[in-house]
Amino acid sequence: MCGIVGIVGCKEKLGDMLLDSIKKLEYRGYDSAGITTVSENKILIRKDVGKIDEVNKKVNFSELKGNIGLGHTRWATCGRVTKENSHPHTDCKEEISIVHNGIIENHSELKKELIEKGHKFQSETDTEVIAHLIEDNYDGDIKEATTKALKKIEGSYALGIISAKEPEKLIAARNESPLIIGVGKNENFIASDVPAILSHTKKIIYLDNKELAVLTQDNITVFDLNGNEIKKEINEIDWNAEMAEKQGYTHFMLKEIHEQPRALTETINGRIKNNRVDLKEELNLSSKELSEIKRIVIVACGTSWHAALAGEFMFEELAKISTEVEYASEFRYRHPIISKDDLLIAISQSGETADTLAALREAKKQGAKILSICNVKGSSIDRESDIVLYTHAGPEIGVASTKAFTTQLVVLYLLTLYLSQLRKTLDDNTIQDLIANLRKLPLQLEKVFNNEEEIKKLANIYYNKSNALYLGRGVNYPIALEGALKLKEISYIHAEGYPAAEMKHGPIALIDKEMPVIFVAPKDIYTYKKVLSNIEEVKARGGIVIVIATEGDEEIKKIVDHVIYIPKNLYTLSSILAVVPLQLLAYYIAKKRGCDIDRPKNLSKVVTVE
Ligand code: G6P
Repeated sequence: MCGIVGIVGCKEKLGDMLLDSIKKLEYRGYDSAGITTVSENKILIRKDVGKIDEVNKKVNFSELKGNIGLGHTRWATCGRVTKENSHPHTDCKEEISIVHNGIIENHSELKKELIEKGHKFQSETDTEVIAHLIEDNYDGDIKEATTKALKKIEGSYALGIISAKEPEKLIAARNESPLIIGVGKNENFIASDVPAILSHTKKIIYLDNKELAVLTQDNITVFDLNGNEIKKEINEIDWNAEMAEKQGYTHFMLKEIHEQPRALTETINGRIKNNRVDLKEELNLSSKELSEIKRIVIVACGTSWHAALAGEFMFEELAKISTEVEYASEFRYRHPIISKDDLLIAISQSGETADTLAALREAKKQGAKILSICNVKGSSIDRESDIVLYTHAGPEIGVASTKAFTTQLVVLYLLTLYLSQLRKTLDDNTIQDLIANLRKLPLQLEKVFNNEEEIKKLANIYYNKSNALYLGRGVNYPIALEGALKLKEISYIHAEGYPAAEMKHGPIALIDKEMPVIFVAPKDIYTYKKVLSNIEEVKARGGIVIVIATEGDEEIKKIVDHVIYIPKNLYTLSSILAVVPLQLLAYYIAKKRGCDIDRPKNLSKVVTVE
């Protein structure tokens, strides 16, 4: 989705400051970019289509002066990707300038009314309607005019608004699209997400739905849409600015892949005490309530949905709780039956995915308890859940999710063990063994990176293929799905994930000497031997087989084309190790193909529309 930043009271070069900040939000969308400021009581706007650097080359944002301004990076929803449709948008007199993330659902009706009143439109966007609506209601007070306009609009918005007539005020408003306020010293900020302003402040106010804020250089006041003032809490963020930088890596994705050992350690830290998983303080439900859960329903999208599938396996195998996984986007519209005895788990890296949020609300309405697994504190999903278990992955900027995924798996595993302890589905010795193996993961992950050169070589051999199949069974099936998703997201190679045994019911027809088939086949007591048969089936049809296998498995080497080894761990935990070579393979293939890895085409990291 789009990224928004704004500042009032800027002490630096305003154009450069805003440019630097929107670049940190480029993962949200990069169809076009724009910056607006007020200088000498005039609105200045520069914008164009393309990625931020390309736009900057054309328009030179640095030249924009003033001490109040807004920046925007767009992921087009309403209106094509054109210069006219790029944000910021203005009113007829060019006295009001606005940036927007979200969708105004009644924009056509409002536009018609405004045109009848004589307003002239320059773009096809829903956003421009808001600018004219504010103009229409303007009577010397931008806050009042915005409030009146917001009462008329339906839909989602995160808005930043500045006006030439009141250049000391920055107006911000939100409904269903994320927007935060950064509290600085004699300067204040707004942003869609924390990384944009982390180098300026760690003090954050989270705006809630249907709230409007007036920011001046030294004051922030928040109101509801009836004009009542709302007292807001200031939160201190524990991320630092370096965490949102590339730190010498060529891409955020590569950096984030390499951060996984640390991210896993931080996600485990503090949650194991005396050889038991301890989530008591985080899970504010009584042991009785937790033991009485009859069913778990997990909702998520994209990579988080893959984590959910692995979670299903964990909950059923170890905690013996019946579990269902749903695409969040499907959940709400298929009349799900949810009861008070169900625990609904929403998994979301960003905490802002509109489909996941809608599914969560539906389950809440039906009385389920809501637990979310989330990486962003203060996000909508975080705030609307009864319980939140954080993945301590740090900011994830690369559009293709990596460290968020493995930390989600770790949280699901910790939760499984905690529920197993409470429900006594595992004895103490088994729990201790599982915990000891979980603790091994970060170091074992470091070892996976020893194979990075080998993975790069594989990428150099196969980067030109048009298709790929990823196969795995049990808990490795979601890992296969995730491997395929990584490849298609960033390299644009068509890739599909399947349960290995399902291959013979269709995908086998595609196998020939041009088809790389990647098997996720760590040694286990359940399905390993069956997977070997599936490998033989592919080989018999001339397919190329690459396999992720357990260190020491020399036999498998004899029947496949390439092996990438991962350290030995328990079955479920080895899946967390197995995904990392797949992330690296996708990364190096995309790199060899010259793709824009951190900004894959058509994708956005945070999808705030349903
Ligand atoms: C987008 C991102 C994916 C992500 C999905 C769910 O499609 O590009 O990487 O997995 O949203 O996001 P969430 O923040 O809810 O985990």
